Amino acid sequence: MSSATYTLPPLPYAYDALEPVISSQIMTLHHQKHHQTYITNLNAALAAHQTATAANDIPALISLQQKIKFNGGGHINHSLFWRNLSPPGSPETELKNAPELAAAITERWGSVDVFVEKFKQTLLGIQGSGWGWLIVKSGAGGNGDAQAKRLEIVSTKDQDPPASDGNGEVVPIFGIDMWEHAYYLQYLNNKAGYVSEIWKVINWKVAQDRLLGGIEKEVTFKL
Ligand SMILES: [Fe+2]
Repeated sequence: MSSATYTLPPLPYAYDALEPVISSQIMTLHHQKHHQTYITNLNAALAAHQTATAANDIPALISLQQKIKFNGGGHINHSLFWRNLSPPGSPETELKNAPELAAAITERWGSVDVFVEKFKQTLLGIQGSGWGWLIVKSGAGGNGDAQAKRLEIVSTKDQDPPASDGNGEVVPIFGIDMWEHAYYLQYLNNKAGYVSEIWKVINWKVAQDRLLGGIEKEVTFKL
């Protein structure tokens, strides 16, 4: 039995579709080079893992854990990221077209403006490479309601995906890539500029779909 292999998912829009917020050059390199490299390395690590398993090679299995985590996370995160972006000016970038998500955000943070400001602070607070996420946690318990859902803003380091810590389930609503490869060719050291502009290309429709129905309809992996 061969191990699973993954392929680069196509972007749901053209490489220049997110301009002027994200340049065609960044999108092309980010998708064709960076994302592809995570997939290539993930497939290699999974194949090596299969070989090591068959050979009962425990040290090899242990050494492969980090490669699988890093490159698997890179594949998951970018697959989610492309889909939670949309061309500026498109209906999907209007939060009013995702009323249930807008209501949930307002209920949680008091206003959309407060939410966006807190999200920006989280993004700018990431040290080194990482991601910022809006997630919904469910079944976390502790409040007497195992089914309760709670929106949270979180960051993850390097390519760690927004997975559950084992206490309830986590669904990523949308993510923002804060690796320098996501913005530096265009924004240079103006990280705050990227963090302000990115809101013009958030696909609130996809975000709401994830809130209401999870990610299983979009992607083939599980978190
Ligand atoms: Fe990236």
